[in-house]
Amino acid sequence: MLNENNEKTEKPEKEENADKTHDEAHQGDEDKVYFIAPQEITVPNFECDESWILDIGGGGEGIIEQVKGKQVIAIDFRQHELEDTHNDALKIVMDARDLHFLDATFETVTAFFTLMYIAVRPKDIEQVFREITRVLKPGGKFLVWDVIFNPPASVDKEVIASYLKVNLPDGVVDQTGYGVKMHAQKMEDFIELAANHGLAVVRKEVADQVYFLEFQKN
Ligand SMILES: C[S@@+](CC[C@H](N)C(=O)[O-])C[C@H]1O[C@@H](n2cnc3c(N)ncnc32)[C@H](O)[C@@H]1O
Repeated sequence: MLNENNEKTEKPEKEENADKTHDEAHQGDEDKVYFIAPQEITVPNFECDESWILDIGGGGEGIIEQVKGKQVIAIDFRQHELEDTHNDALKIVMDARDLHFLDATFETVTAFFTLMYIAVRPKDIEQVFREITRVLKPGGKFLVWDVIFNPPASVDKEVIASYLKVNLPDGVVDQTGYGVKMHAQKMEDFIELAANHGLAVVRKEVADQVYFLEFQKN
């Protein structure tokens, strides 16, 4: 929903039963949540060829779908997350740990604030990187937008979250927030993981605690 300033106004999404599904948690009571400082990121109309873009965890705000529309195949293992989005993407309920696509299908795979949810389970994030690499064509790109979490050791909360302002190419400003089970994560964790799967960093942009990484498959 947009307000008069063309801004979307939403609190970080709530999710019930998160632990019952995949050990990830958005926030429950606000006093259980540790908020990092509000963050801001700009998502450009990034260059890619005209074939399908596979967006991992494409529910929620559907940011990549807002930028690239019909070119996007949005997968998410929660049907309601896909149903809640209103955009032109092709939406498929699918688990990123088991992508139902042939090897070397995509030139471009994206993950917008999705790896932070999967990273709470080390085995899952390994498997997801394996699957993404498998479905990428040689020379294909994996584009990641995500967040650095380095909570002080003294913090005793169940959930870590951030409000996020997303600047989109058409001038729309999407005000949202993402929260997940408390954990620490560095950008370098994903870079190392990617390297282990044959994905090299070709571009890196950091703004405060959010970042963009462009990986290329060897
Ligand atoms: C915060 S949302 C990502 C934000 C979204 N990309 C956007 O533009 O707003 C994270 C999504 O990842 C999904 N997800 C987490 N683990 C997944 C998995 N293994 N396979 C598919 N989707 C997954 C969750 O259901 C959730 O909808």
